[in-house]
Amino acid sequence: LRRTRIQDLLTSTDLNREVLVKGWVRTRRGNKYVQFIALNDGSGLATIQVVADAEKFPEESLKEVTTGSCVAVRGQLVASQGKGQSIEVQATSIEVLGTADPEAYPLQKKATSLEHLREIAHLRPRTNTFGAVLRIRHALAFAVHDYFNRHGFYYVHTPIITGSDAEGAGQMFRVTTLPPEHPPRTEDGSVDYSQDFFGKQTNLTVSGQLEGELAAMALGQVYTFGPTFRAENSNTARHLAEFWMIEPEMAFYDLVDNMDLAEDFLQSLVRYALEHCAADLQFLNDTYDKELLARLRSVTDNAFQRLTYTEAVEILKSAKKKFEFPVDWGTDLQSEHERYLVEKHFQKPVILTNYPKEIKAFYMKLDEDGRTVRAMDVLFPGIGEIIGGSQREESLAKLETRMAEMHVPADELWWYLDTRRFGTAPHSGFGLGFERLVLFVTGMTNIRDVIPFPRFPKNAEF
Ligand code: 4AD
Ligand code: MG
Repeated sequence: LRRTRIQDLLTSTDLNREVLVKGWVRTRRGNKYVQFIALNDGSGLATIQVVADAEKFPEESLKEVTTGSCVAVRGQLVASQGKGQSIEVQATSIEVLGTADPEAYPLQKKATSLEHLREIAHLRPRTNTFGAVLRIRHALAFAVHDYFNRHGFYYVHTPIITGSDAEGAGQMFRVTTLPPEHPPRTEDGSVDYSQDFFGKQTNLTVSGQLEGELAAMALGQVYTFGPTFRAENSNTARHLAEFWMIEPEMAFYDLVDNMDLAEDFLQSLVRYALEHCAADLQFLNDTYDKELLARLRSVTDNAFQRLTYTEAVEILKSAKKKFEFPVDWGTDLQSEHERYLVEKHFQKPVILTNYPKEIKAFYMKLDEDGRTVRAMDVLFPGIGEIIGGSQREESLAKLETRMAEMHVPADELWWYLDTRRFGTAPHSGFGLGFERLVLFVTGMTNIRDVIPFPRFPKNAEF
């Protein structure tokens, strides 16, 4: 007899047969005649009810069947007499695979706050909330690959350890094997990285974009999807020190093509979740945020608003709302400004374009006015920036000028500049923060609750 996943049992119409289920006990209750065990195996939100008659299972024999223990149950799959479920398993044998001391097991029946669950991140996947979030996260990751595969993009694996700073923002975690106490030093006293493992300074990647551009200049349409790392102040509900980023890069795309792709891509991903994660989304909607499903549908059903940074600044300057940070042309927008545009002014996702060159990365294509670049940020309700992207500067001379102006070392990026030297072409791309997407789709409010083991300042416990 082979194990059946509980989700598959619950959708089965084939009753009165012997089944084997295995899972973790959520609750056990009952009386001296019969005991009911609610069992979950992660295959879905629902539990299966196991019925243990006292004749066969005196209560004493079930004392190790406690919340959190793991059991294997054989029995008959039958129609349920009780309310709340249509089928149940009438047990013929119950084997305890792993006990869980009720005094010590932290996930007892009473609801536990999300804050507390963060402190027991190793056990929180056993809760309904995290089971739902992790299944939705999986579905979205699958939908990303599915979307690109259907649209002729190739998945390229870019390195995690890199020798350069893709964003030129200096927010990198160093990778080194030199002894911290007494690293070798050069004559002028600085650390001698030529003696390090790679013979130079290396760091964890902040973005796979630059390598993605190289691949796009050969394969046409590519994407990366991997972990990225930023040693920035990530003590917010929207930042992680380690997050996953999806970065498509396309030859022959201009900024409008790039926006069209970003919009269609986001709408497809949300639609996929609505179609494939209905029960989990309904649970999150009912438990945490009654507007969740309506918000998701409004994103799939309405075109995004597109406008320039300059137009947005005009709107913000004439807004009645008092902002904490004043807005003026040239300043970077804060999340309060982004959310005003999305949630109050337009009440739909917004794509802002053509930002001042000073507040964007060196690789973005300069506009004709010489002041702005062909950047695009996609802003989402409740999230703020979910995507950052641009058309890239394809002219070698202009790129070299921008790099010099922004003090980006050209000698370290000689290989990147080669793409502009040999067969350069107009091209564009963007980066979607995967956790920000999962945050939006699940309606969770803290990014630490949508990745199994969040990394943020002073937290690398699990
Ligand atoms: O805007 P960013 O910094 O853009 C890039 O890294 C480009 N190289 C992308 C590209 O054009 N290929 O980051 C892109 C997205 C942001 O819009 C945000 O969703 C997410 O990555 N992101 C973070 N998510 C969680 N924690 C952080 N610390 C994040 N920093 C950026
Ligand atoms: Mg950005």
